[in-house]
Amino acid sequence: MRIYRLAVEMTGFIDNQRKTGQKIGFVPTMGALHQGHISLIRQSKKENDLSICSIFVNPAQFNNPADFQKYPITIENDINLLELAGCDVLFLPSIEEIYPSQFKKEQYDLGYLETILEGKYRPGHFQGVCQVVDRLLSIIDCNTLYLGRKDYQQCRVIEKLLQLKKYNITLHICETIREIDGLAMSSRNVRLSTSERTQAAAIYEAFLYIQKNIKIVPLSDIKQAAESLLTSKGFKVDYIEIANDKLMPLDTWDGKSAIVALIAAYLNEVRLIDNMMIA
Ligand code: PAF
Repeated sequence: MRIYRLAVEMTGFIDNQRKTGQKIGFVPTMGALHQGHISLIRQSKKENDLSICSIFVNPAQFNNPADFQKYPITIENDINLLELAGCDVLFLPSIEEIYPSQFKKEQYDLGYLETILEGKYRPGHFQGVCQVVDRLLSIIDCNTLYLGRKDYQQCRVIEKLLQLKKYNITLHICETIREIDGLAMSSRNVRLSTSERTQAAAIYEAFLYIQKNIKIVPLSDIKQAAESLLTSKGFKVDYIEIANDKLMPLDTWDGKSAIVALIAAYLNEVRLIDNMMIA
């Protein structure tokens, strides 16, 4: 696997590959890789000639400085996992490479996506995500971008970014990869203690509860019951929401259209998010 740390080198390499008609898949990450990320690399390998992964812990998207400080860094393990998965190139830039002194911050018009759910609880987060993804895409001119459905709102935000900036890039949203007990794989899971790790499966139980009862219990009651389930397992809930596929929260459901349940909750210091298509 090639490793580039400089933006000019990364762009130079991509430009040469594109001249020869190579199809390029790109998986942006913040490292601390797990099988969820690796599934994105595998999907990219299936559909492209060349698969590129970036690892950059983006300070601009952390609204909580302590969360940034504690973000796990496991670069040697990440490189091993990427090599095993057959990733072709790793882009591993410094902060100065991504945000050089002449870097101009943009404001992205994300509409309601910015103020609901994660946007409400993490002000500025999605502007930071757009800032870094926009910058990465200016360096890595890819055909397809791969993102995990676990961060469903982020997927919708980046879809909006691609439209706003008229990128000619296909967005491929890949399924969430789960542990045996249903906990969605996440870089933050390593911060859970053994007992918290056991408790964490309650998020998946809450989704199963919602899925089982969605046709018989009104939405507001179902959300309240799911919250009680999480609270009884030691969670502090930021939100439990049921939304349509555009992520508009719903008060009632017509019993037919696609809906997604979304949860964000703390287990002590660690904030976990997840979502599941319910119908
Ligand atoms: O999902 C992530 O890991 C990050 O938000 C992303 C998309 C790599 C941008 O920093």
